[in-house]
Amino acid sequence: MNATATDLTALLELFWHPVCTLDELDAAAPHPLRVRLLGRDLAIARTADGGHLALGDRCVHRSARLSVGWVDGDRVRCAYHGWTFGRDGRCREIPSMPDGPIPERACVPGYEAVERYGLVWVRLDGRADTCIPAHPAVDRDAAQPGTMRIVTGEPYTWPVGGPRRVENFVDLAHFAWVHDGTLGRRDEPVPPLPTIRREDGEMRFEFDPPDMDVDDSALFGHSEYRMPMPLTVSIEFWLEHGAYRHLWMTACPVDLATSRCFWTVSRDDDLDGDDAPHLAFQAIVLEEDEPVVCNQVPPELVLEPGFEISVKTDKVSIEYRRWLAELAAALAAGGPAAVRASLDAASRPTPVSVRGVLTST
Ligand code: FES
Ligand SMILES: [Fe+2]
Repeated sequence: MNATATDLTALLELFWHPVCTLDELDAAAPHPLRVRLLGRDLAIARTADGGHLALGDRCVHRSARLSVGWVDGDRVRCAYHGWTFGRDGRCREIPSMPDGPIPERACVPGYEAVERYGLVWVRLDGRADTCIPAHPAVDRDAAQPGTMRIVTGEPYTWPVGGPRRVENFVDLAHFAWVHDGTLGRRDEPVPPLPTIRREDGEMRFEFDPPDMDVDDSALFGHSEYRMPMPLTVSIEFWLEHGAYRHLWMTACPVDLATSRCFWTVSRDDDLDGDDAPHLAFQAIVLEEDEPVVCNQVPPELVLEPGFEISVKTDKVSIEYRRWLAELAAALAAGGPAAVRASLDAASRPTPVSVRGVLTST
């Protein structure tokens, strides 16, 4: 169950992560956009055929960043001497050597890149054949067009690892303390212990908040939590007055100590109304979380047993850490196929139990 930082990086490389918004990509044009994913600098571009590419951001010739070059058809052209690189990372042209040869080793890393939900997603290692996380509000709107208003929040980068960011989102005991009066009540500090299931590569549970008077823009009510492993949280809310709301967040692991969060907040009521109050409510929640979550030391999630002390009201994070550690262990023991098998084993509902009060994870 112990997993090192190397194990965790290798595990996260098997999954799709968003690295930028389409707007950010457009703003960088004609240059590729420079982003960082799991400690690697990447040059991201939209190619002439409408696809996307993700290349290691270092030209193999004289090490100029490809992100200061420009997009040329379905390739990226280096700014220094004009070499071009295709989606697979192979050099296709050396202008100073029009008759070749192009050296065999003239190749930069090329990764899978696709657009979904207005974001560019990159997968560094495709061997586990993982999926992009679902977005229930987008699915709802696709099934019944025009029934949802999906509002995209401004992405934010926090000096905390993705797993800690995710864990904070689903930490039921912190609502009373960090979000007293916003999402919880300090005079009701004992959260329910939800029944947690593993389904379709996700952890799922339901939650009912305490009685409170809240603003209409609050995401507050009976909630169904879905956590597509490893770094996405999707929460559906049914408000007292009948409206459906949805909060979706995915944490890009810039490196193990830094995450960039992409998020949306969606509603099926007030479709023509002002988005500002809905975004403002989330801004309040983030302002409450940030000073605490960005001051966890170390900023990386440590899966080593006994490093932190857990109690039974940490049930959700205990189970999240358990699955992360299982996936890292599966990778170490059986490679990407074993990770795939662990995710597939969760394709049917699997109740997960907590063993009384735990003193460590
Ligand atoms: S450094 Fe890229 S072409 Fe020379
Ligand atoms: Fe919070």
